[in-house]
Amino acid sequence: MKKISLFVSALCLAYSVNVLAADTGVISLRNGALEENAPAETMKDFPKQNDSVGINYVNQPPLIPHSIRDYRIDTRSNKCLSCHSLKNFKAMKATKISTTHFVSRDGEVLSDVSPRRYFCLQCHVPQVDAKPLVGNDFKPAGALAE
Ligand code: HEC
Ligand code: HEC
Repeated sequence: MKKISLFVSALCLAYSVNVLAADTGVISLRNGALEENAPAETMKDFPKQNDSVGINYVNQPPLIPHSIRDYRIDTRSNKCLSCHSLKNFKAMKATKISTTHFVSRDGEVLSDVSPRRYFCLQCHVPQVDAKPLVGNDFKPAGALAE
């Protein structure tokens, strides 16, 4: 009985959200109306090479300043490591992977990237060269500023 009433209230909620959306029209954060079946937006530009994006708080995983389209990460291969690993970073002129990424959850230092850091995109996300959606006058505190 409880399940049924939950289901019915979920239905009502879904219905009212739909009605509201139809009444007001859905507006994107950039104030454009969202059209159904609109063509996909054009690909965004990434910053030029060697432009790392400043961090906003201590220990933030740095943003990825380049495209990662088609970079594969699975149990057999990790495209990110072909440039960022300790073995390859020099030749590829990429940022060296942080040594913190070799520490296992039990605090052991491993000889390779720790499994908990293997899926890079859990923490690092690409950032395009775009204007921020909302203003932000946050300033990092003195000595902690990058
Ligand atoms: C073809 C080589 C290459 C591959 C593959 C690659 N990167 Fe990079 N990456 C670079 C280079 C070079 C830089 C230095 C900035 C620049 O020149 O764009 C960089 C910069 C970065 C930075 C910024 C570091 C900082 O301190 O600001 C992060 C984070 C990063 N990459 C993560 C990744 C992740 C995650 C992947 C996989 C999804 C990846 N990269 C794949 C070459 C690569
Ligand atoms: C659990 C979150 C997490 C995962 C997963 C992760 N990172 Fe990071 N990464 C961080 C954080 C936090 C930092 C900054 C602090 C530090 O150095 O540990 C960082 C720093 C870095 C840096 C910059 C080092 C420097 O000296 O500026 C690079 C490059 C990087 N990571 C690459 C990678 C790659 C490649 C992978 C995947 C193999 C990966 N990371 C997976 C959280 C993560």
